[in-house]
Amino acid sequence: MDNLAAYTAVPYEGQVTAQTDPDNLAVVGTLLGLKPVPLSGARVLEIGCADGGNLVPMAGRHPTATFVGLDLTPSLIEMAQAYSDRAGLTNVQWIAADIADPDLDLGPFDYILVHGVWSWVPEAVRTAILRRCADWLSPNGLATISYNVWPGWSLRSPMRGMLAWHANHVEDAKQQIARARQLATWLTDLPKNRRLLGAAMRSELSDVAEMTDWYLFHEHLAKDNHPVWFHEFAALAADNGLAYVGDAEFADMVPVDLPSDVQDGIEALATDRLSYEQYLDFARERAFRRTVLAPSGTDVDYGVNSDRLATLHVGGRLFFPGDWTDDDQRQGVTSWPMGVKPKTPDGLVGLVALNAVHKRMWRRIADAWPSTIAVSDAIDGLGDDQGLRQQLLLAYLQHGVRLFTQPRVSHGVTEKPCARQALRAEAHLGRGWLTTAWHRSLGASDMDRALLRILNGEHTVDTIAADLQRSFVRGTLPMPKDLGDTGLDHVLQWLNTRLSAYANAMLLEHP
Ligand SMILES: C[S@@+](CC[C@H](N)C(=O)[O-])C[C@H]1O[C@@H](n2cnc3c(N)ncnc32)[C@H](O)[C@@H]1O
Repeated sequence: MDNLAAYTAVPYEGQVTAQTDPDNLAVVGTLLGLKPVPLSGARVLEIGCADGGNLVPMAGRHPTATFVGLDLTPSLIEMAQAYSDRAGLTNVQWIAADIADPDLDLGPFDYILVHGVWSWVPEAVRTAILRRCADWLSPNGLATISYNVWPGWSLRSPMRGMLAWHANHVEDAKQQIARARQLATWLTDLPKNRRLLGAAMRSELSDVAEMTDWYLFHEHLAKDNHPVWFHEFAALAADNGLAYVGDAEFADMVPVDLPSDVQDGIEALATDRLSYEQYLDFARERAFRRTVLAPSGTDVDYGVNSDRLATLHVGGRLFFPGDWTDDDQRQGVTSWPMGVKPKTPDGLVGLVALNAVHKRMWRRIADAWPSTIAVSDAIDGLGDDQGLRQQLLLAYLQHGVRLFTQPRVSHGVTEKPCARQALRAEAHLGRGWLTTAWHRSLGASDMDRALLRILNGEHTVDTIAADLQRSFVRGTLPMPKDLGDTGLDHVLQWLNTRLSAYANAMLLEHP
């Protein structure tokens, strides 16, 4: 089955990918000494945009930027168009086309996003993607391409080979998926005393059980899936007019997760930036990369220093000794929508051993949350600007805070609460997640989606509570598990809790 037939038969549910957010690419570029184009007037292209799952929330948040979504599969482009129409967007254009079509003439673009496409297309299309990025990027433009890499994929390859061979005996996509699941179960149940391959595959097979049908089909049963070594990818990019900039997950460029003797070993082996990154992949057994590229000749300065944070904004949900509540513990803050993962209940590594000046900076960031605060404001008047920015950089590398080129502002709960229109459109898609203002997925129940759909800024909290109460009593809406009683006071209290959670995830705006 070729790609067009495969994606028509089993539509791909486009995922929100935080690393592809142009603001994230702009942060990576800024930290590496480049001058990325400000998002306010940027032109953004997504190649392989599927049903618009990634691009629509982005375009909704950046109304003054313009976006183009391109995909081979017309039925997916139709879904993207319907989604963006419902979101009321006028800054997105959708194109159904093969990126390898030599007559395609688009560009220039300041950001080109290619996520989940490059490894899964034939060689001619892989080359075309690189060429298009080189031809269509503006002089300060940045592209991000994700792809599967060795050595990590060597653990998955045998499993993919077995599943694809077994499944592809039949033509029908649904039957292929069923056959793949059947074989995965059989492989899982094989005696545990098999050797290395069996041990490596067991963890991969447990992932298969969790996968949706569409992901299993396109990841493991697709005709094309071509992992490469990182050095091969960098050489191909260079051959096609692109320079390696860095990783869209900036922290992955820095081995803070590895023991110091391993870090020293990599330093000793590496002869330049590219070989350094390749040895990092060996050490981490990396299976997947998200690379940032720029036009050839772009001068990247890897001497990252904290001065480059000066123009950025910072945000994070930070905890201090004593702040941690039982409720946080129960909710498991690691799954909090902002994706901030404090390492301990006391907060970031290092927060506990604070000096008083550092603590004042962290307190400002914590108080601003869920909004961001300009780095300059976070450190203003505290003295030791450089030392404080260094602390921020370290926290960023440990995923304790996130950096942005543009502020993110929470609007809190207003008298007539209003969810962003793109979000209301997303709530209509019937998926189990929604996109936060930090371009991250937030798990959302049927109830949350039903509620967010009606938050259009026209109804007061009291009116919404009364409507909800009637619906719960009549049974037209199922009673939420955490609402013990349908009395109006209880419903109002329950509604206010939900609205605060939405405000904290920055799902609300001023109408
Ligand atoms: C695995 S999906 C990834 C979708 C989305 N970027 C994401 O990560 O959620 C790959 C997408 O690439 C598209 N695609 C495959 N070959 C293509 C080509 N030659 N030109 C343009 N799009 C292509 C498919 O139609 C499909 O929507």
